[in-house]
Amino acid sequence: MRLAVRELSKTYADKRAVDRLSLDLGPGVVGLLGPNGAGKSSLMRVLATVTRPSAGVVTWNGRDIVADPEPLRRTLGYLPQDFGVYPHLSAREFLTYLAAAKGLTARSAKARITELLQLVNLADVGRRPLGGFSGGMRRRVGIAQALLNDPRVLILDEPTAGLDPEERTRFRDLLADLGRDRIVILSTHIVSDVEAIAGRVAIVSGGRLLYDGPSRGDLEQLYLATVAGARR
Ligand SMILES: Nc1ncnc2c1ncn2[C@@H]1O[C@H](COP(=O)(O)OP(=O)(O)OP(=O)(O)O)[C@@H](O)[C@H]1O
Ligand SMILES: [Mg+2]
Repeated sequence: MRLAVRELSKTYADKRAVDRLSLDLGPGVVGLLGPNGAGKSSLMRVLATVTRPSAGVVTWNGRDIVADPEPLRRTLGYLPQDFGVYPHLSAREFLTYLAAAKGLTARSAKARITELLQLVNLADVGRRPLGGFSGGMRRRVGIAQALLNDPRVLILDEPTAGLDPEERTRFRDLLADLGRDRIVILSTHIVSDVEAIAGRVAIVSGGRLLYDGPSRGDLEQLYLATVAGARR
């Protein structure tokens, strides 16, 4: 189980959002940390095969994800930063719809959705319309949908946005569990989230990878010094 990023660049018009970035990912939780506009979402969209790289290569177990995206897509869970819901559907209906799109049978989807609603602590409100959900509750629906197909590669773009402290703790425990035998990539600009959740940190700024290593106690200082150093 290996996702390898080699010299990846992503350019929009004349803006280089990701700049010759290389990263080797195996099982575990890696936190992508970087300021607004650092290129985190751009990198994640390429890894999730939503957009193509402008240059460089990404391989999943040795196979190019542009030439041959299916093996990765089959086992991918992705929460986009701008994940939206259908307000008139209930959480259950929405997840059922997405499960069908992912090719789950109706029977296995039903059981899986019950399990996932419990996992994200929404079992009590599973039949209510999503239009009445708070931002944090919608985010948790987004986390649940990313887990529908029991993915080996989980890409979560700002999963903790809007979560209250209690839900944050729950989420941290969930990811610790998932990260044991899966590749989990999450982005945030909240240093304490990475400290709490990820064993490994990748600091990105201006599309470049500035630090890749274990999470550590002085992460806040490391982050600020790294990002400030790159601006100089
Ligand atoms: N679709 C797009 N078209 C043009 N420019 C884009 C597009 N998406 C991103 N960019 C630009 O690429 C750069 C990186 O953006 P990206 O969204 O990847 O950063 P980010 O690290 O996810 O930021 P944030 O923390 O705010 O989510 C930014 O300068 C952004 O303006
Ligand atoms: Mg982003």
